Amino acid sequence: MPAPEILSAFESAKGFMPVKEGLALYEAAAEAAKLGLPLLEVGTYCGRSTILLADVAREAGVMAVTVDHHRGSEEQQPGWEYHDPTVVDPEVGLMDTLPTFRRTLRKAGLEDHVIAVVGRSPQVAKVWAGELGFVFIDGGHTDEHATNDYEGWAPKVAEGGLLVVHDVFPNPEDGGQAPYRIYCRAIESGAFEEISVTDSLRVLRRVGAGI
Ligand SMILES: C[S@@+](CC[C@H](N)C(=O)[O-])C[C@H]1O[C@@H](n2cnc3c(N)ncnc32)[C@H](O)[C@@H]1O
Repeated sequence: MPAPEILSAFESAKGFMPVKEGLALYEAAAEAAKLGLPLLEVGTYCGRSTILLADVAREAGVMAVTVDHHRGSEEQQPGWEYHDPTVVDPEVGLMDTLPTFRRTLRKAGLEDHVIAVVGRSPQVAKVWAGELGFVFIDGGHTDEHATNDYEGWAPKVAEGGLLVVHDVFPNPEDGGQAPYRIYCRAIESGAFEEISVTDSLRVLRRVGAGI
């Protein structure tokens, strides 16, 4: 359980992670951090979930790494359901969530525990060589993006490490199916086994090789 000031920073941060799922994310990250390897998130947005991973990283003496191009997903663009006009850069006319993210982390006192990588997930995955104790996939929700995130990052989860997927909706009436499809793929691979379900947050452990 995060300390009250961390929970309060998380709750007041802009973003998309509900509290119940955030607490499950925190618990999973704390368990995975025992491996002593970095914790990685795909999909920083304004740093709401990053606060939790950063706090776990601080406690465990590891680093949290968070990857985002900071230009927003499809559904966050102007005219779409999740658009927030306050995170548009007026000079270039595009979304830019990086300044808000940096302020969020600064306010929470967690800057020293996070490496923020600004880039496209598949390109970052290609140059990331090391093993990870924890991978949290909360990036683009199209099949193309979710598949790239799975194929790019799941192979880097160490034996015993955790792969967490957000927005997994088995029923299409509840939400898009791309995260559900990568979740199914992970289970069907035999390389991952489910250890917890909290609303749309699925926590899987690596129990075998491959993806
Ligand atoms: C749902 S939001 C993340 C929410 C965040 N985890 C939170 O707790 O509020 C998804 C983020 O993924 C980023 N994103 C989408 N596709 C991406 C890609 N291919 N590479 C890097 N970031 C991507 C978007 O810019 C957006 O900020």
